[in-house]
Amino acid sequence: MIIIDGKKTSEQIQEEIAAEVVKIKAAGGKVPHLAAVLVGNDGGSETYVASKVKTCERIGFGSSLFRFPDSVTEADLLQKIDELNNDPIVDGFIIQLPLPKHISDQKVIERISPKKDVDGFHPVNIGRMALNLPTYISATPFGILKLLERYAIETTGKHCVVIGRSNIVGSPMSILMARNGYPGNCTVTLTHSKTRNLKELCLQADIIIAALGKPGFLTADMVKDGAVVIDVGITRIKSETTKSGWKLLGDVDYEAVAPKCSYITPVPGGVGPMTIASLLLNTLKASRREVYGG
Ligand code: GUN
Repeated sequence: MIIIDGKKTSEQIQEEIAAEVVKIKAAGGKVPHLAAVLVGNDGGSETYVASKVKTCERIGFGSSLFRFPDSVTEADLLQKIDELNNDPIVDGFIIQLPLPKHISDQKVIERISPKKDVDGFHPVNIGRMALNLPTYISATPFGILKLLERYAIETTGKHCVVIGRSNIVGSPMSILMARNGYPGNCTVTLTHSKTRNLKELCLQADIIIAALGKPGFLTADMVKDGAVVIDVGITRIKSETTKSGWKLLGDVDYEAVAPKCSYITPVPGGVGPMTIASLLLNTLKASRREVYGG
């Protein structure tokens, strides 16, 4: 059994990107620049955004953070997006979600130019992903693909069962694992809360991607010997044994499932740390105009 080390893989990718930045600078090119917009004071969002900005600085990217109070109007936020769409310094930007209730996430996402949508949330970029065209793949699915690639995990012809059909993980993962390419070429079963014979399906799976948000849901009796298990769960619960006072729980009963697996991602330290690497890779792509040209 091999434990997939997402932290180490993410750090490796960050070092590779930093080396690219050095080359870009040496050649007199424009340094990639990521902007982030943070609305309100949600603790989780603050931490995520601060860490994104800090990582940009560490690897040599330019970065900017724009903060708005919870009370910002939708119109003002949309105006900021227009500005960022037209700012030549900014190669890509993200609007940290969730937003306050009076602002429509969908309206905001659709206002971002697909060319700068390094989160890969714009319907145009999701459509391009479904068509296997160059695009920005969103952070979690892209991070999973990178882990499969870096560990050279065979996917062609394998049966991949995805548990959960969310717009941000399950649905795109099912498309990506089925597409013609590597990682991909799987026979995919996308399962969800109305699936009737989930255990039977999982027992047939060579690869299981658990992304439903229920701690410990995937148990050992659902996993065949030698399966690859990717755990996307990140349920945060209060804990007295950690310094932060929080603990992250995956969707997999790790202790019981791991001994049966050929590869497994732990929580924390598996898929989670890869999301920042994905965002940076997308920003590098944006600065190189690899998706839309120009
Ligand atoms: N909130 C939680 N995850 C994400 C993410 O990947 N991007 C954005 N914009 N907001 C988030």
